[in-house]
Amino acid sequence: MAILENLGTAYKALVIGANGAIGSALVKAMQSDPHCTLVMGISRSSEISIDISNEESIQHASSVLESKGPFDLIILATGILHQAPIIPEKKLDQLNLDYLQKVFAINTFGPALVIKHFHRLLSKKRSLFVCISAKVGSIEDNRLGGWYSYRASKAALNMLIKTAGIEIRRTYPETTLVALHPGTVNSRLSQPFGGEKTGQAPEDAALKMLQALGQVPTTSPSIFLSYDGSTILW
Ligand SMILES: NC(=O)c1ccc[n+]([C@@H]2O[C@H](COP(=O)([O-])OP(=O)(O)OC[C@H]3O[C@@H](n4cnc5c(N)ncnc54)[C@H](OP(=O)(O)O)[C@@H]3O)[C@@H](O)[C@H]2O)c1
Repeated sequence: MAILENLGTAYKALVIGANGAIGSALVKAMQSDPHCTLVMGISRSSEISIDISNEESIQHASSVLESKGPFDLIILATGILHQAPIIPEKKLDQLNLDYLQKVFAINTFGPALVIKHFHRLLSKKRSLFVCISAKVGSIEDNRLGGWYSYRASKAALNMLIKTAGIEIRRTYPETTLVALHPGTVNSRLSQPFGGEKTGQAPEDAALKMLQALGQVPTTSPSIFLSYDGSTILW
């Protein structure tokens, strides 16, 4: 069975943040998919490098990659949750402006600029622009509280995805923008929060995510999708 059923038998993919646990597993999974004719992975340390906190870097990477496209699938797999000595806030007293700004810069503002500069590289046929989001960014699903910066940065990312999905449909009528929840995955990001014990192996999560993406209906301009194929309330 094809892992990305709705992208046909000859698709091209680009993964941004390809050195992270999830990004690298997604690249590997597509490298072994016979229907994938090209998969490119870029990161801060790749030959064509990209730092999503710097718009010039984003713009440069998109113009260098233009000749490799159009891409049927673009996945942005960057993100932060903690950065020593700061860990996600459990209560209001722990809110810190530097941390709020850093988390929003990487999880929200950077992805907005990546969508701005990279959506032009999409195929005008059926295509997907995916940003790895997180279920904790669901406003409806927030029952536990805490993790203020991270939750809010992903909720704002989801709003950007939904808004861009509406605009991009006007010129790319078969494109869907996806906010994708990967599940808990064993990675550098999840490691301090038990990801090593409770998380899925990145390879397993990647396969599930690609299968779920393969089922996204063409009719949706945007969707908040879980790795298991279910949809999540915004
Ligand atoms: N793991 C989980 O359980 C889990 C759960 C829900 C959501 N997510 C989401 O999944 C995504 C991927 O996380 P992961 O678990 O794979 O973590 P990870 O292994 O730490 O990967 C994070 C990636 O983000 C990149 N990055 C950070 N700042 C960047 C910048 N300024 N420019 C370019 N790249 C930058 C890192 O690149 P460098 O190596 O250059 O720093 C790395 O490739 C994130 O959006 C995260 O919020 C993860």
